[in-house]
Amino acid sequence: MSANVYGIDLGTCNLKIFCKGTGKVINEKNTIAIVNKNQLYAFGDDAYAMYEKAPDSIKVSFPVVNGVIADYNNMQIMIGELLEKYAKSHIKGAEFIVAVPTDITEVEKKAFFDLFYKSRFKPRSVLLCEKPIADAVGLDLDVNSPTGFMIVNIGADTTEISVISLGGLVLSDLLHFGGKRIDESIINHLKRNFSLVIGQKTAMHLKETLGCAIAQQEETVETIKDES
Ligand SMILES: Nc1ncnc2c1ncn2[C@@H]1O[C@H](COP(=O)(O)OP(=O)(O)OP(=O)(O)O)[C@@H](O)[C@H]1O
Ligand SMILES: [Mg+2]
Repeated sequence: MSANVYGIDLGTCNLKIFCKGTGKVINEKNTIAIVNKNQLYAFGDDAYAMYEKAPDSIKVSFPVVNGVIADYNNMQIMIGELLEKYAKSHIKGAEFIVAVPTDITEVEKKAFFDLFYKSRFKPRSVLLCEKPIADAVGLDLDVNSPTGFMIVNIGADTTEISVISLGGLVLSDLLHFGGKRIDESIINHLKRNFSLVIGQKTAMHLKETLGCAIAQQEETVETIKDES
């Protein structure tokens, strides 16, 4: 395998690209902003900054929903622009390994494959890899050992629970909820109890800043104010 290899995870919230050659991981919001219905205005983190703040002429959207490609054209534009931005000179003839959720249809899988195979970058090869296997390799687990590893990947729209042993998936279940469900609960709680309306971005920020599964020093909303 050459160094011209890219590992891709098209998440509902974040798009991650691992470049084997440089060892770097690019992590940008999987968001696109379109102006006048068909002109690219911004993508990635720049487009996410406009989410919930853009005028009617700019449509900010997420091309991946529930872990699968919901807007193929915009996803193609996004991935093309991102690869051009970060890996322009090395991208021709590269190998792409694309992580896909386990519980999806053949048509949904083909969309992930075509996105790269039919791209202008003319890849040498495109391989689809089940997300739990990619997670295990990323965690540096010895996936080929006869020991069962349980992996729980909580994303924005999906939660994938899998058991891996001897290099293969023994069990896997894809649940259609993730971090966004917590954001919605925060929005509903503030609305119901405090008559306060906040957007999804604010809810996510509150969750990530104040929430923690492990006991820690108590954080307050004032802390957020100080940081911003
Ligand atoms: N420190 C944190 N505390 C709580 N939640 C967090 C934290 N950091 C990130 N998250 C949440 O994790 C989710 C994003 O995770 P991730 O990038 O793995 O999702 P994704 O791969 O885009 O989504 P999916 O796998 O469902 O397609 C968001 O809902 C985000 O708010
Ligand atoms: Mg994910």
